[in-house]
Amino acid sequence: MGIAADIAEDWHAALAALAWEVEAGADETMLDAPVNRYDLRAEAPKPLATSAAPDPGRTDPVATARAMAEQAQTLDALREAITGFDLCDLKKGARNTVFADGNPKARVLILGEAPGAEEDREGRPFVGRAGQLLDRMFAAIGLSRTSPDAEHAVYITNVMPWRPPANRDPDPAEIAMMLPFVERHIALVDPQVIVVVGNTSLFALTGAKGILRARGNWSQAFGKPLLPMTHPAYLLRAPAAKREAWADLLSLQARLR
Ligand code: URA
Repeated sequence: MGIAADIAEDWHAALAALAWEVEAGADETMLDAPVNRYDLRAEAPKPLATSAAPDPGRTDPVATARAMAEQAQTLDALREAITGFDLCDLKKGARNTVFADGNPKARVLILGEAPGAEEDREGRPFVGRAGQLLDRMFAAIGLSRTSPDAEHAVYITNVMPWRPPANRDPDPAEIAMMLPFVERHIALVDPQVIVVVGNTSLFALTGAKGILRARGNWSQAFGKPLLPMTHPAYLLRAPAAKREAWADLLSLQARLR
């Protein structure tokens, strides 16, 4: 790894460690010398500037994404629009924009979370171990990303086209700014059903949390039937859950008849 890559890796690692500490409840930094709180004058704390605070001078990333997405009339135009969207910081740490794979005429659109290391390197979704399992799962009900025949094809994309540092989950602000692109992507492919795999895509399309509770229960998103399923990366860690995933695949197969 070069020096620049080392620095980027350190920066992402430090940021991830800080985010973890804040999540665990840390709200102050340690100083070199102890502070006697009894000596401090009581004064109202100044409000901290947070990234969530509205800043009237700043470009609204969600509105910008919506305007760019709405202009895209084809999948190629959408790919270009996403590649040209510079308001998501995750893009800075990614090697590639991972747009989609599979047959755009497919009846089934599979929506994953975000690229991992292999996907980032290759620029295609679900090519690592989890992706290979995903391919085997859908092959078991006669569906494939390489099928030229729409009946037997799937189309695969992710909520987030850029790999998050250390494979962390995309945060709600990042999801919100990419959602207009996801909505347009679904409208352009116009699948018969959407399958969301994992928590991030479930949350992005329905606002619900808890894929283990939601899986197998059909609902709707963007006017399409939606089936939540556990993520293949989870199934690699918890093979006993494959039994339920198989039931979900059979439910999908029955819906497509
Ligand atoms: N996990 C995902 O959700 N998407 C990918 O593309 C790869 C792994």
